Amino acid sequence: MAYEIATIPGDGIGPEVVDAALPLFEEAADAAGFGFETTRYDWGTERYLDDGAMMPDDGLDRLAESDAILLGAVGHPEVPDHVTLHGLLLPIRKGFDQGVCKRPSVLFDGIESPLRGYEGGDIDFVVYRENTEGEYADVGGREHRGFGNDVAIQSGVFTREGTERIVRAAFEAAAEREGRLTSITKSNAQAHSMVFWDDIVAEVGEEYAGVEVERLLVDAASMDFIRRPEEFDVVVASNLFGDILTDIGAIVTGSMGLAPSANVDPDGDYPSMFEPVHGSAPDIAGQGVANPLATVLSGSMFFEHLGERSAADDLWDAVEAQVADPDAPRTPDLGGDATTEDVVSDLRKRLRG
Ligand code: NAD
Ligand code: IPM
Ligand code: MN
Repeated sequence: MAYEIATIPGDGIGPEVVDAALPLFEEAADAAGFGFETTRYDWGTERYLDDGAMMPDDGLDRLAESDAILLGAVGHPEVPDHVTLHGLLLPIRKGFDQGVCKRPSVLFDGIESPLRGYEGGDIDFVVYRENTEGEYADVGGREHRGFGNDVAIQSGVFTREGTERIVRAAFEAAAEREGRLTSITKSNAQAHSMVFWDDIVAEVGEEYAGVEVERLLVDAASMDFIRRPEEFDVVVASNLFGDILTDIGAIVTGSMGLAPSANVDPDGDYPSMFEPVHGSAPDIAGQGVANPLATVLSGSMFFEHLGERSAADDLWDAVEAQVADPDAPRTPDLGGDATTEDVVSDLRKRLRG
């Protein structure tokens, strides 16, 4: 069977890491005995600068045909980020009801954490981030622009359906992993939305007697992601908090260049989207040194999502083996001087071997 994969390389290092990773996905699929076809959508800021839109009006309809989407990154120094992100990435997450965002943080053998005393295997948690609403709801506006009394309102939107599904997904994951769930909020200050969130955690938790629940405030949690990351198993958080915490999760496990993610529609009505956690990294774009491993690991997550366990494991294991090998090439974010292409060639050999 052949899957239909839509790719949206996007901006900056997005095309570099997507182009690097795709041949490896083909390699893994071949070995596992299935095929996939890719349709590449060159949507992004170059298109916006030419045509005034990040993607065509029927962009979502076109993507809806695919089994999964692989995205690089979006964001360009010449156009405000809220324009580019609201023109491409965020409409896909919302329009395809990708309410469950999974972001693993694993400290691999051979990777040096900036935290003292941590070794491979010591850190291994996954953040379940609510992905279509919360603080990212497009509800609000600006008034009286150009006057001294101008005002901006940005409302958070927390629905029972959206909150319950991310909380339930996180409990399910905790039940399958170590049985520990940390819910991260700011209920001391945000007495409506975040207390609602706490109530739903308590309600859903009644169905998961075997899962131990810890509740943390996001300020203390940010500290604990650095002070005691080894104690987390599954973490559940709102859209904004999940966003911020997963950059911390990425760096304590070595690099933004190693952090993968899955944006999942749990009902399966729409394609899910897989992308590295990182952005378009304009500071290194065009130099050929972006770390492709976050995208390779995101590919492993999409094969797993498609039910192709063996290809998923092959990709994950190849990355693990590469970073554990002191002689293997490493990009500068991991302390080496290798190029994206060096890393990919080495991985290709490992996949074939
Ligand atoms: P960023 O993740 O792009 O970069 C942060 C730092 O990490 C930079 O120093 C960068 O060089 C480094 N880095 C990131 N990915 C790397 C990789 N694969 N290999 C090596 N180093 C890597 O975050 P930013 O600088 O805050 O944002 C840049 C742009 O990307 C902005 O326009 C932002 O809005 C956008 N952004 C997009 C996404 C996305 O598309 N999913 C995510 C985050 C940021
Ligand atoms: C991420 C990014 C996006 C987010 C931005 C670019 C809108 O930071 O995927 O982590 O906040 O979701
Ligand atoms: Mn982010």
